[in-house]
Amino acid sequence: MTRIVYLNGSWLPETEAKVSIFDRGFTMADAIYEVTCVLDGMLIDYGPHAARLKRSAAALGIPVPLSDEELLDAHRQIVAMNKLDQGMIYLQLTRGEQDRDFAYPPEDTPPTLVMFTQAKNALKNPAAEKGIKIATVPDLRWGRRDIKTVQLLYPSMAKMEAKARGCDDAWLVEDGVVTEASSATAHIITGGKLITRELSHALLPGVTRAGVLELAGRHGLEIEERAFTVAEARAADEAFITSATNFVLPVVSIDGATIGTGRPGPVARDLRQLYIDTRRAAAI
Ligand code: PDD
Repeated sequence: MTRIVYLNGSWLPETEAKVSIFDRGFTMADAIYEVTCVLDGMLIDYGPHAARLKRSAAALGIPVPLSDEELLDAHRQIVAMNKLDQGMIYLQLTRGEQDRDFAYPPEDTPPTLVMFTQAKNALKNPAAEKGIKIATVPDLRWGRRDIKTVQLLYPSMAKMEAKARGCDDAWLVEDGVVTEASSATAHIITGGKLITRELSHALLPGVTRAGVLELAGRHGLEIEERAFTVAEARAADEAFITSATNFVLPVVSIDGATIGTGRPGPVARDLRQLYIDTRRAAAI
């Protein structure tokens, strides 16, 4: 199926949407992105994703070319045009075109805004039933991981290393503590407490993380926002990751150490269902 995609105010068949070879997104990875989940043809947690897009753009001084209303309308239109029932909307915003130069182009340079959809059966995910295996790798990314940039080469390398080690995903480790997963937030449960790293420049402020913490707190789970070591994670009762289209995915082993019973833990399972049910009910 040929998708209809969005490029700088135009709706085009995917084969006709072209971005310049001079775009700084291409030459400098000078670009940010968002991934918003779609369930039942509706947007999940749209407000916080739009807010984070604006935060990332402001942090790098890239103008967002659409008003809040236009941005929401574009999200709704792309779902409708592609008859997307379940999956994601990918949005990328770059600083625009310029002859290659490390210095930014003039402030009035038009940014490039691209959106496309990708279908995915997010609700019926076999990994949620089986749980995922984690391999830890050093975190060699830059120091502003709170900005959602497209500099994704190292996370891709980390994921490939995890796969080469027979695992599903990587947890990135710096100074002995876990920062996050290759493309998700990392959490553990020990002694009835949910432990997740506090927000800082070291990790992305996950939208799903915020939702899950709010639900966990409301359901009486104690929350400790602090960094945890790999040793602590290996000895945890449960572990899981959170991200937009994976919601909550239980972790069943870390570097070969079995977590809990080696099956998805009860708290992670409950949080997954609670997150899906509440977000589906509040989708727009
Ligand atoms: N990744 N940490 C990193 C490094 C991420 O790339 C992501 C999301 C998250 C979770 O954020 P959220 O809950 O807001 O999706 C944490 C997206 C989904 C991706 O790159 O595909």
